[in-house]
Amino acid sequence: MIPAAVTITHRKLTPREAQILHEELKSTPNILGFTVRELSNMRDVHVAEADGAFAGAALSMDLPFGWTDIAAVYVLPDFRRLGIGNGLLGAAWDCAVDRNRRIYMLSRNAAVVVWMRAQGMVISKYIVTAPLAVHLWMPMYMTSWHRTKESFRKSREIQKCPELVQGVCKNPRRSVGSVEAR
Ligand SMILES: CC(C)(COP(=O)(O)OP(=O)(O)OC[C@H]1O[C@@H](n2cnc3c(N)ncnc32)[C@H](O)[C@@H]1OP(=O)(O)O)[C@@H](O)C(=O)NCCC(=O)NCCS
Repeated sequence: MIPAAVTITHRKLTPREAQILHEELKSTPNILGFTVRELSNMRDVHVAEADGAFAGAALSMDLPFGWTDIAAVYVLPDFRRLGIGNGLLGAAWDCAVDRNRRIYMLSRNAAVVVWMRAQGMVISKYIVTAPLAVHLWMPMYMTSWHRTKESFRKSREIQKCPELVQGVCKNPRRSVGSVEAR
């Protein structure tokens, strides 16, 4: 359960939050990362604050044909295991559901994959079966000097991680155990 002092807000990241998140994402092999400019420009962001301090974010992106990719969720190490990750995912999911979007997710984080299953996503390690919208978008996502650099830098660590799996939900309902985002 999310403690009372934690809020989740649907808003853009502040420049300082974008800078913090950019640096933090370098620490995980589970997310290749985003530039500060990309993070600052993202509109579909759920931001968690704990007692007013930036605690994490979920980043969603609209793809063609009605798909939304919940592309990343990150909770700062000091705030983990407090329910914030679940809260962010639930808020991002419900926001997409309220806009009648289909939802796509890709993760190698076991806790996140458990969450994806709980939402009724069709889970598969065969990324080739991803919706066409994902295939069209993926090359654009990877055409980034920052992510190319990061994929080399993180390559050893990535090899030790569990396989990437995708979750596909064509007709999502509101999340299981969701919280309301402001
Ligand atoms: C994944 C992450 C977002 C989880 O955030 P969090 O705030 O610690 O998660 P929560 O406290 O909401 O816990 C969510 C669930 O995951 C489980 N969990 C979280 N971290 C775990 C860990 N290290 N080992 C085992 N289970 C874990 C919790 O027990 C909880 O399970 P429950 O729903 O059955 O109670 C956070 O660990 C993180 O930012 N990791 C680095 C980035 C990353 O891997 N992001 C996901 C890739 S998109």
